Amino acid sequence: MKLVFASNNKNKIKEIQQLLPDSIQILSLEAIGCHEEIPETADTIEGNAILKANYVTEKYGYDCFADDTGLEVAALNGEPGVYSARYAGEQRNAEDNMNLLLDNLNQKANRNAQFKTVIALNLNGKQQLFTGIAKGKITTEKSGCQGFGYDPIFQPEGYNETFAELALETKNQISHRGKATQLLISYLKETK
Ligand code: IMP
Repeated sequence: MKLVFASNNKNKIKEIQQLLPDSIQILSLEAIGCHEEIPETADTIEGNAILKANYVTEKYGYDCFADDTGLEVAALNGEPGVYSARYAGEQRNAEDNMNLLLDNLNQKANRNAQFKTVIALNLNGKQQLFTGIAKGKITTEKSGCQGFGYDPIFQPEGYNETFAELALETKNQISHRGKATQLLISYLKETK
């Protein structure tokens, strides 16, 4: 079975290929000749995952899955959510995004937040969604230097460290993306 992962992130693609049986071959966007930027214009995380997966299936005719992730902060009514990458502007800068979030949460007692990843899978004419959630809190200052994005200010439930202070393997076991990916993999193993 050939399945496109609507991503050009070589690490993500390699990681997921290693977790799947050899009978499932993961193809990148590059591998199918898709070099254009796929629109991510939906106003929900689910909507963007679906847009990306459908774009590939409709335009290139492949079964496909796509993911989208956002950080939802309770005291900010779920912001930045689907706008997490560009919270502080189109420059998509992680430092700017974290600084803005810390400013917007200044003096707020409720610092609860969650990361949410949705994977949309188009397979054999059917669409399926897989959701992974990591609950936690936004810290008052940055700590740690691993990972990316909001990792230095997100402390997952049950840990005293931020995502940026945890070993990557630990983060992958408890993360939103890790959980959504595990659900996808279990499904694919059952249906292959
Ligand atoms: P994407 O949908 O995976 O591109 O994620 C959108 C944005 O959410 C990223 O640009 C980051 O700002 C943020 N994000 C996603 N996953 C993580 C994570 O695991 N740690 C920290 N930030 C993340």
